[in-house]
Amino acid sequence: MSPRPNSLAAKDAAFHFHGYTNALKNEKEGGFVVTRGKGVYVYDEDGKEYLDGLAGLWCCSLGFGEVPRLTQAVVAQMQVLPYYHTFTQKTAAVTVELAEKLVALAPVPMSKVYFCNSGSEANDTVIKMVRYMNNGLGRPEKKKIISRVKAYHGVTVAAGSLSGLPAMHKDFDLPIAGILHTDCPHYYRFGKAGETEEQFATRCAESLERLILSEGPDTIAAMFAEPVMGAGGVIIPPRTYWDKIQAVLGKYDILLVADEVICGFGRTGNLWGSQTFGMKPDIMTMAKQLSAGFMPIAAIMMNERVYKALRDNSNKNVSFAHGITYSGHPASAAVALEVQKIYEERKILEHVRELAPHFLKRLRTFADHPLVGECRGVGLICAIELVKDKVTKQGFDPALLVGPNLVRIAHDHGLILRPVGDSVAICPPMIATDQEIDSLFDRFARALADTQAWLKREGHLPAAA
Ligand SMILES: Cc1ncc(COP(=O)(O)O)c(C=O)c1O
Repeated sequence: MSPRPNSLAAKDAAFHFHGYTNALKNEKEGGFVVTRGKGVYVYDEDGKEYLDGLAGLWCCSLGFGEVPRLTQAVVAQMQVLPYYHTFTQKTAAVTVELAEKLVALAPVPMSKVYFCNSGSEANDTVIKMVRYMNNGLGRPEKKKIISRVKAYHGVTVAAGSLSGLPAMHKDFDLPIAGILHTDCPHYYRFGKAGETEEQFATRCAESLERLILSEGPDTIAAMFAEPVMGAGGVIIPPRTYWDKIQAVLGKYDILLVADEVICGFGRTGNLWGSQTFGMKPDIMTMAKQLSAGFMPIAAIMMNERVYKALRDNSNKNVSFAHGITYSGHPASAAVALEVQKIYEERKILEHVRELAPHFLKRLRTFADHPLVGECRGVGLICAIELVKDKVTKQGFDPALLVGPNLVRIAHDHGLILRPVGDSVAICPPMIATDQEIDSLFDRFARALADTQAWLKREGHLPAAA
């Protein structure tokens, strides 16, 4: 369907090149233009309401409406100091306050914070920090980084290389050298017949150790990992996985970098995903819910050992020759700091803990549906994986685009979701109510029924399914 002449969708088709979009499709159909938001809802240019079941891009913890305190925080900051930078020992006052706050919130003792503008930039910067650290420590061969199949750590040249999704590499000439991918810890998909979750976790850890030994432990610097793998399909690690993986990393002096870009600030029912899964990272990256998605800001937190190595090498080299113009931007820092106060005053973490059982109960009601292979979730994040055959776990022909089609149908039902192959990710704003969670899953149920009817009509399912 082509966009209405002179509509914003038509202008979007004419002037805007989007990320993660089929450009030809957008040229023909125009974009989905959001004009305003309120609570968990957003509205298109015709005033139609949509429940955003992914909180934007897993970030709008406080929804899409104005939060007057955050507006005030930006205005007040712009009135006193709209910009300052962090080079050559300088900084804005509010940026220092945010750094202090984040160190206080850390799940394990952390020493310093470095600010960035996006999750990708934060992960890229960590790779440079790790190289700088090991060069400074006189072990220049200890540089390789381990990530995981299906990981998502961003899109810049190095962060895109860390990501473990084939489409992010194909035709971008990625990954760069020195990035290795170990197994994806998805028990439903990769567990063997008769294998328990614990045995699968042991197998993942053994495979990691084999990779380290085959490359040479002295060549491996760090492992990056999301506590819950988000954009790879909301993959929740099997029981005992992190204990076993961390034992291997500890044995070979390999740093653990927890990418808390989605999980951080309450998503899994603890402040950090690392706490939910018993991870003890040396370095953490965070973004998204740090500012409730309202301003671009990301951060890296590092422990004392990492900091000291960077400090000493910066001293040898006169300075740490890396920095970003908008690092710790005061307007973004002011919002992030105020967001932390709002989380505390409104008891957002407690709210997530109260809401999660209802959210997960509604999720599990789909487990018996003939099209649903797995329902997986923790806290307020989950995914539903669609399959052709529940018993054998056989998926649909990828050419059918079952996941994307379900998401398109859900859109028509006023629900925004994200497909990951034939899994559908759900991650609502953390301020959602029980009723809004019900509305989300009611809309999903209608979309699933329509998807099933479409697949039957087209002969892709047995008539009885
Ligand atoms: C876990 C994780 N890390 C990093 C990123 C990259 O963040 P950004 O899009 O801000 O660059 C994302 C984005 O979705 C993410 O989910």
